[in-house]
Amino acid sequence: MSIAAVTPPAFRSIYERRSAAKVVVPVSRHRVIMAVQSSSVVSAAPILTKLKKDCATPLPVLRHVADAMAADMRAGLVADGVSDLKMILSYVDTLPTGNEKGLFYALDLGGTNFRVLRVQLGGKEERVIATEFDQVSIPPELMFGTSEELFDFIASGLAKFAQTEGGDFYLPQERTREIGFTFSFPVKQTSVDSGILIKWTKGFAVSGTAGKDVVACLNEAMERQGLNMRVSALVNDTVATLAGARYWDDDVMVSVILGTGTNACYVESIGAIPKLQSNDSKSGRTIVNTEWGAFSNGLPLTEFDREMDAESINPGEQIFEKTISGMYLGEIVRRVLIKMAQGGELFGNSISEKLMTPFALRTPDICAMQQDTSKDLGHVGSILYDVLGVSSNTAERQIVVEVCDTIAERGGRLAGAGIVGILEKMEEDSKGLIFGKRTVVAMDGGLYEHYPQYRSYLQEAVDELLGSEISKNIVIEHTKDGSGIGAALLAATNSKYPHDF
Ligand code: BGC
Repeated sequence: MSIAAVTPPAFRSIYERRSAAKVVVPVSRHRVIMAVQSSSVVSAAPILTKLKKDCATPLPVLRHVADAMAADMRAGLVADGVSDLKMILSYVDTLPTGNEKGLFYALDLGGTNFRVLRVQLGGKEERVIATEFDQVSIPPELMFGTSEELFDFIASGLAKFAQTEGGDFYLPQERTREIGFTFSFPVKQTSVDSGILIKWTKGFAVSGTAGKDVVACLNEAMERQGLNMRVSALVNDTVATLAGARYWDDDVMVSVILGTGTNACYVESIGAIPKLQSNDSKSGRTIVNTEWGAFSNGLPLTEFDREMDAESINPGEQIFEKTISGMYLGEIVRRVLIKMAQGGELFGNSISEKLMTPFALRTPDICAMQQDTSKDLGHVGSILYDVLGVSSNTAERQIVVEVCDTIAERGGRLAGAGIVGILEKMEEDSKGLIFGKRTVVAMDGGLYEHYPQYRSYLQEAVDELLGSEISKNIVIEHTKDGSGIGAALLAATNSKYPHDF
């Protein structure tokens, strides 16, 4: 069983809502199943107990993760290749101020959709005069195709979108349209407008891109489309989110994505980056993309995580991401349920084909199950039936919800510990500039946005680690879609045309 063999729906945006068809389980059949299963659910308990023990994140575990995150960050800043954390220099050392003016485009590729956006910026007074965007879903086969196919598809979407420009959008004559290109995969930046793809993540397996400059790939595809646009900034989604949030709030110092994948970036002092060879940052600071999805030190992992990793298309990589992010939480739960079912401990003797299908259970499903507050957990039952093809009684549904909660709790609390690790590293270097005042962590991603339990576990871990006094100063703020505007703003700050912002 390999993740490469996953059916296309597993790679659809995991936050697309599935229409919840109601399934009526015939009462008599249901009763029989309940009778058969009432004794078996008792034996599911040992698996659940062990799962909870293996996934536990008491304070000492959180503390270890936060400290190890800070230590790996420091190691990654010294030299490349010595730490799990790549600590990629973004070459973004000027953040938006609010004075930016003009028409700029953004192109956002990071998951199963790509987005194109244009924004007309009006400076401090008018700020964002107008925005328009379009979203195109990427055919699953392109995620396993060739680099040219993927970039041709993106460039043609961009060309179509550019043709519809008009109304409030205005570009002075003789100017080329400039794009901020958000590319949400690990890239070794070579300048603010070029960078080499290190590897694909999040289930992408496009051939011929790794090792190449992704801006050159896009430029070549735009040329093939006869599209005259220029990439003036290539940025990770965390960097774009930080820039977008900073446009409205000067206290933003960190940004985190918790969606299909996960990552974090932050504002670092040039002096704290020994691996930086030349230093021409005017501000004395730059944004560092941690690529924290690759973190792995001291995580509480289970047999289910290990098996999922071993069968993935990138075994041994992105372990933090595989433990805390949206692409994987549902899959971990599915694997636990299989073990319970195989032992005859859940769902009678029915091990359905759907239950055995990798990635059939998605994170939005486990989230939806956790929102069911009804006595008989009827909605949980419908989801289990619709998505996994299994019938269940109330006791079994309770166990399933506990499994979901265990995996969400571990994910949320570890994400919180990661955030504290970054903040503590920054505080240690700057003494008081982080904890002694309001500091904002800009957060984006569907997992954080749509999963209330995950969100509160995350906040709980931050509060436990920092204590109530300090955590009052740390604001985790959801900045929805900040990355689109953020990339356009970075296209503006890095424009080749003269500007005074
Ligand atoms: C990628 C990061 C990205 C994150 C969130 C990860 O899989 O490696 O570059 O920022 O997903 O989209």
